[in-house]
Amino acid sequence: MKIAGSVVLLTGASDGIGAACAGVLRERGAKLALTGRSQSKLAAVSNPGDLSIAADLTTPGCAEMLVRRTVEFFGRIDILINNAGWGIYWPVAASPEPETRRMFDVNFFAPLALIRAALPHMRAQRSGTIVNIGSIAGSVALPWIPLYSASKSALAMLTAGLRMELAGTGVHPMLVAPGYVLTDFQAHSAGIAPPERVVGDKRFAISPSACARDIVRGIEHGSRVVMSPRWGWLLVAMHRLAPRAVEHHLLRLQHSGGRLTNRVTGN
Ligand SMILES: NC(=O)c1ccc[n+]([C@@H]2O[C@H](COP(=O)([O-])OP(=O)(O)OC[C@H]3O[C@@H](n4cnc5c(N)ncnc54)[C@H](OP(=O)(O)O)[C@@H]3O)[C@@H](O)[C@H]2O)c1
Repeated sequence: MKIAGSVVLLTGASDGIGAACAGVLRERGAKLALTGRSQSKLAAVSNPGDLSIAADLTTPGCAEMLVRRTVEFFGRIDILINNAGWGIYWPVAASPEPETRRMFDVNFFAPLALIRAALPHMRAQRSGTIVNIGSIAGSVALPWIPLYSASKSALAMLTAGLRMELAGTGVHPMLVAPGYVLTDFQAHSAGIAPPERVVGDKRFAISPSACARDIVRGIEHGSRVVMSPRWGWLLVAMHRLAPRAVEHHLLRLQHSGGRLTNRVTGN
């Protein structure tokens, strides 16, 4: 899909990968509807001519409001980027239920509601791109963040199912699976501190701008799945071929950085 002149509704635009996407999309001439919770962070990312809406995606009716305001402002919606997300680093057995549900609300149910709200417009136009920002953790479960992995796996399956449902309509769903991107994602997440070795080893980490460029290139090329960076495919393939070996390695990583601590209590 051509980016210049396209109307993009981008969630999680106030920080990290979303803020970087806003910059790359603007450079390519997109018309931007930007949303996030923080009014001040959104203001720092927005330019005159953008539509900027501070809103919490877990508020009932938020998705419908965002799509309605985008269409009222720009007259159409061409690209929906479901980027907002957060993680909980709790073990399955200890994860507080309200936090777990809130994470699924942001990572899965908000994208679902936005897709449902945007689809009638895209179907009527017979064109559109729906981008869901998943994670490599949605393909290979990471033991230090299992429920986040589950939420991103659900989003990946939603994207794949939707692609078949929308065949022939002109609307194209795309999944993005970032690896380690250098944002404040970990600081914003809840639960036990992630393993030090995982956080500290930045050899394979990429910048938010590199991830944003991969996303925008994927939209332009009509990609089905974008791994960012591309070596993520290697991990997925190794996991398919030798799941026990990969799981063993992940467990070693998890336990090699010393004791995990609860960020809230410090214990
Ligand atoms: N960083 C990584 O290594 C990595 C790896 C794989 C996948 N991802 C995925 O990439 C996406 C972006 O992550 P990031 O690294 O850029 O994280 P980030 O820097 O923490 O940014 C998260 C964004 O989501 C927004 N957000 C969070 N909860 C929200 C809510 N309830 N309602 C509305 N907006 C909400 C935040 O808005 P406010 O700041 O205004 O609250 C912020 O704009 C997420 O889906 C994440 O799961 C990240």
